[in-house]
Order: sequence, then structure tokens, then C-alpha cells
Amino acid sequence: RTIALAYSGGLDTSIIVPWLKEHYPGARVVCVAAEIGQGDELEGIKAKAIASGADECYVEDLREEYVRDFIFPTLRAGAIYNRKYLLGTSMARPLIAKRQVEIARRVGADALAHGCTGKGNDQVRFELTYMAFAPDLPVIAPWREWDIRSREDALRYAAEKGVPVAATITKIYSRDRNIWHLSHEGGQLEDPAVAPAEDMFQLTTDPVAAPDTPEEVTIEFVKGTPVAVNGKALGPIALVETLNALGAKHGVGRIDLVEDRMIGMKSRGVYETPGGTILYAAHSELEQLILDRRTLAAKDLIAPRYADLVYEGRWWTTEREAYDAFVNATQERVTGTVTMRLFKGSAVVVGRESKFALYDERFVTFGEDDVYQQSDAAGYIRLYGLSQRVRAIKDQEMRQH
Ligand code: ARG
Ligand code: SIN
Repeated sequence: RTIALAYSGGLDTSIIVPWLKEHYPGARVVCVAAEIGQGDELEGIKAKAIASGADECYVEDLREEYVRDFIFPTLRAGAIYNRKYLLGTSMARPLIAKRQVEIARRVGADALAHGCTGKGNDQVRFELTYMAFAPDLPVIAPWREWDIRSREDALRYAAEKGVPVAATITKIYSRDRNIWHLSHEGGQLEDPAVAPAEDMFQLTTDPVAAPDTPEEVTIEFVKGTPVAVNGKALGPIALVETLNALGAKHGVGRIDLVEDRMIGMKSRGVYETPGGTILYAAHSELEQLILDRRTLAAKDLIAPRYADLVYEGRWWTTEREAYDAFVNATQERVTGTVTMRLFKGSAVVVGRESKFALYDERFVTFGEDDVYQQSDAAGYIRLYGLSQRVRAIKDQEMRQH
């Protein structure tokens, strides 16, 4: 048999390789790793997989697809989970798992495996994607089966099986990084009363130590999708990287939250999403300039539904396609530029411009204009308040009788 394993190169998935070899004697283990912007962790991943006992290892560059087809739609939807979380891990999973299935088919695999904990969300996201694309393949989730319980157990097993373990692997936090964000969970974060240590952060400057001079950045959007920064057209990867660098420099995008995992428990997570924080704020400002009140309100109803859906791994569903159709219709005119000022942890709007703006100085002005007749307001208010007026009239009549 052949097992396709979603592989990250970290301790948690590396020890799965010898475990599969031990429990499925004779099985071929094919690792599938995704390059999704996790920085240097990917170096030597192939060699590491082979050294851990894998028969093959595919490393797939998913960055562009991730930004274009997962991050940008979620941004256009304005989806934010638990009031704060910009979904950086959640929306990567359906893409990684889908590519894993594609490779599994190519190598003729008859089972899929992943290294997600049985206590978390990621297992759900991987497996819902497997269900969508490989309903016929069984799933092997060693972390739910074996008796390795702790990091110490895992390190012991790795040593026993000759799995190479980098020194950095003794780190205490559970982290997940990609081009959109870096997440931190576990370790000292498990006490939500305690602030994270400054040395935990890896992307963003401490806002206190950030430059004393603010910096402005102008982002151009076309139909709700960011396409340029400071007048320079950029592809999806370069655009997010550029804003990450700017945001990180100014300490923008640190998010500390007590989060509701889908399996029912609360967990404390800290995220660094520098570019994403700027983009969400800028996109929202542009919509506020362009969209009418009811469309904005309708979007605000969909946004948390969209966020739940992404968080819960329901990416490959009719529901998501339907939300996207709605959201994309609202974005037809969301074209223009927004200027944000970055300063010591904050990103605030200082200007916005669009040829589609519903805002128009000619109409809002207190001077003369020709679309608005002040006398129209009298009849409007009479009808708008009609039910209140009728009730008051009834009350008066009842008092008289
Ligand atoms: N709690 C976040 C989420 O569910 C981040 C999870 C990070 N995953 C990880 N394997 N470290 O999306
Ligand atoms: C998850 O929610 O699946 C991941 C939790 C973690 O490893 O930090």
C-alpha cells in the first residue's frame, strides 16, 4: 500500500513517517509538503523526509494560489473569526489538503495521513477536504491513535527511530506560519491572564520600539482585490510581502485572543498578521466609501458566516461558492485607493478615493445642489414616522374617552 502524508518537516509530522512504516509494514510513505510562505523552515525538507524514512517527498509551491484564491476572497468577504482572527491557518488547510489528494492520486496512494492533533481544528479542515475530493480514501490520523502524548514522548520516539530533530524543535510554542500570518499557541500562552513575552514574536516589531515617525502607505484595489502598493503594481505574493514588511516594521497586526475551537474548548492564541491587518482595514474603508448602506449591512451579515465556514474547514462547499457569488457582486465597484498611516502598532485611514464613490461633495455640501430638495425631507419624515404618529393619536383619543 501507499500512504500520502501531509508533511511539514516539524517534529509532529516527522515522527509519523517511521510510525506508519512500523504499523503498515511494507507501505510506501509519500510526503507532500507545501511551500506556502513559511519562511526558511522549508529548507532541506525533502532531505529530512527521506532521512525520516519516507520513500518520496513532493514540495509544492502553493503561495500564489493561496493568496489569490483563498486569502483575497476571504478579505473581500471581510471575514473575521471570533471578532479578531484573520484566519491565516484556517484558510490554508483546504488548499494544502487538496494538493495532497492530487499527489495521492498521482502516486496511486490508497490512504491519506496527517499530523494534526485530535484536540484541534486542523484535523477537521484536512479531513473535510479529503471528503470533498477523496471520499473513497481512508484517513490515518496517528495523533488520535498512538500513545505519544507529549513533546517529550515525541522527542524520545524520534531519537529511537533516528528521525533528525533540529535544535529549534525544542521550542515550547505550537506555531504555524505562512505568507499571511504566524500563529502562536501553547507554552506560557496557556494562561490567558499573562501577556506574551516579547521574545515570542517573530514577525512584528514591538510597537513601543517601532519608528517614532509615522509612515503612509497607499493601496490600490480593483473590484475588492488589492493590486498595487504606493503606485507600484504587484502580484499577489509581492503585494502581501510588501505590506507584511511595512506592517511588521511599525508593529502592526498583533492579535491576542481567547478563541473558540470547533471541538468545543477555548484556547488562547496570539497571531501576527501585519500585512493582513492593513489590508482588512483599507478594504473596509474603501467599501464604506463606495457601497450603499443596505449592501454594507448585508455584507456584514455574511462576513461572520463566511468566517465560521472558513474556520470550520467548509471551504469546498456550495455554501462558500454562494457566499463568494454574493460577495463578488458587491465588489464590482470596489475599485480605488486607500491611504493608511502606520504608527506604533496602529494602521489608520487617512484618505480614500474612488471614481465609484457614493460619497460626493456636490451632494453632501451645505451649499446649493440640484439632486437634493430640502423640501422633500418634510414628506419623507411624515411617512417615515407615520406609525409612531398613529400610535400617539390613539393614545390621545383614549385619554380623552
Ligand atoms: N487556532 C488557529 C486556527 O485554528 C491556529 C491553528 C494553528 N495550527 C497549528 N497546527 N499550529 O486556525
Ligand atoms: C489546531 O487547532 O488544530 C492546532 C492547535 C495547535 O497545534 O496549536
